[in-house]
Amino acid sequence: MKLLCLSDIHIDRNSHSLNKELLPEFISFLNEFEADAVLISGDISTGYHNSISILNKLTVQVNKKIYFIPGNHDLYAGKESFWKAYFSLKNHPCCISNEIIPLNSEFVLVGDAGWFDYSLGTPTYNLSVYENQKRRLWCDEKHLNFPFSDRQTTNYFLSQWREQFEKIRDYQIIFCNHFVPWKHFTVFKENDEKWNFFTGFLGSSRIGDFIEQYDQIKYTIFGHTHNRFGIVSDFINSTVICNPLGEVKDWKTNDFLGELIDSAVLLEF
Ligand SMILES: [Fe+2]
Ligand SMILES: [Fe+2]
Repeated sequence: MKLLCLSDIHIDRNSHSLNKELLPEFISFLNEFEADAVLISGDISTGYHNSISILNKLTVQVNKKIYFIPGNHDLYAGKESFWKAYFSLKNHPCCISNEIIPLNSEFVLVGDAGWFDYSLGTPTYNLSVYENQKRRLWCDEKHLNFPFSDRQTTNYFLSQWREQFEKIRDYQIIFCNHFVPWKHFTVFKENDEKWNFFTGFLGSSRIGDFIEQYDQIKYTIFGHTHNRFGIVSDFINSTVICNPLGEVKDWKTNDFLGELIDSAVLLEF
């Protein structure tokens, strides 16, 4: 089985930045890539209506199976609730949220959005500082409307995964979520306090602790950080893939196709 792994395509923002409609180029790339299926680990675009519309187009126009989990940008819903956006995306046939996908006789794919809880932030700031500053500084806050704290939202996904994993003890697992599970995959910048503060929004060490409990996880896949770490073999108990496309401002070049090729990871198992 050949699984093409991608994340953080941000097709709308990148189209805007490059002043060019990138979706046809993205669809051609997917059609030409030699793989059996594609996994997109979140942030395909901004807003759940927009992401659903793109997934509909991929379903019709791409010649291989598309698997998708929502990222924070896909879940933007304005005044509508976070959960309305989440369940609307979850109901899309490409979305694997809270599902167990058999890929072959040995491997299953399990994944969902995940969330952040400030546990990867700098120790200089405590939880209440993060929660207060979030309203002012973090762009998600303006576009997401949900009744739970970030820690509770992370708890929701962790408990869903625990339930699912009880059902697949005899399988090897490819696990994906959108958010960073370990501090190792955050970047600390000397003398850039603002940047370091925002590492709190990147993910949750509790997702990392969860992954470490399951030796059946052979591959862990995530994005959200727009730093490409590539394929990291034997990181604690699995091979980690963190190689997102990200946004034009994060790239070395302005070449969408070149950056997309650089971000693509092919898993064979
Ligand atoms: Fe992203
Ligand atoms: Fe993200």
